[in-house]
Amino acid sequence: MSIESTLLPVDELVAAVDGFLAASPAVRAWDVETAFDWAAADAGRLSEGQRSAVQFVTFIEDHLPGYFDVYQRCFPVDDSVDLPAFIHNRELYHFTVRWALEEDTHARALNHYQVAAGIADRATLRHELAVEGRKPFDLPYEHPVQFFAYALVQEKATQMYYHQLRDVVDEPVLAAVLTRLARDEARHFSFMADVVTRYLRVQGDAAVEPIRDVIAGFRMPLSDTLRGYWRWALRIADVADYDHTAAYEHLLKVIDRAVDARTEKVDELADLIGQFRTLA
Ligand SMILES: [Fe+2]
Ligand SMILES: [Fe+2]
Repeated sequence: MSIESTLLPVDELVAAVDGFLAASPAVRAWDVETAFDWAAADAGRLSEGQRSAVQFVTFIEDHLPGYFDVYQRCFPVDDSVDLPAFIHNRELYHFTVRWALEEDTHARALNHYQVAAGIADRATLRHELAVEGRKPFDLPYEHPVQFFAYALVQEKATQMYYHQLRDVVDEPVLAAVLTRLARDEARHFSFMADVVTRYLRVQGDAAVEPIRDVIAGFRMPLSDTLRGYWRWALRIADVADYDHTAAYEHLLKVIDRAVDARTEKVDELADLIGQFRTLA
């Protein structure tokens, strides 16, 4: 089955995109240049683990070109798709470019923080990020809801991570950056939750099964390519008392709200999430 044949009806997608853009007015936007008192940034107030956490999330955010490219490949905005799919993809693009701008701003903010706080010098950091940034990123999905379910977990996971890291750092500039980032991720999560909800309402169990596959094979971005990922990830999880499987619970909540009653498929998914939670 092709991705095109299982796309959300365009009116449903448009409602979600409109909702996201309405929740993202220009007055609430921020920029790297003016939002923070960079001169006050001081990595000397961070623990070794906290500094390491900042470096780790900079790699994750900086991989944006790879993430953005996934959407371009899977929801093409050209003549490789038929007209209805193009219409859907063109509407989605209104979300994707705004989202990409915000994620790119996250990458720049963290990059800027590292330099201003004395964690890294600009040229070295640029080089290190490039070594990881040029490695490929792909999501092996066949049903469109999977891209949104994956991003839902990912956005919630980063939102929780930034929030929890902010709570433990005693450095006001980093705390301010993390507050901005967490708020953006929360808004991104809401969009993904809205889209996943619409898929479930329109397609029912036919959308639950592919979501289950996302959870069964879940990999955090860069876990396959970033040097020393697993050891590093465990260490930074410890720094902020964080567990990414907690984000699965949020996916389950979205599903429970979207369906009138639990079906066998939803129960299976709930069981799977329960297993991951106990393991973690
Ligand atoms: Fe981000
Ligand atoms: Fe995000």
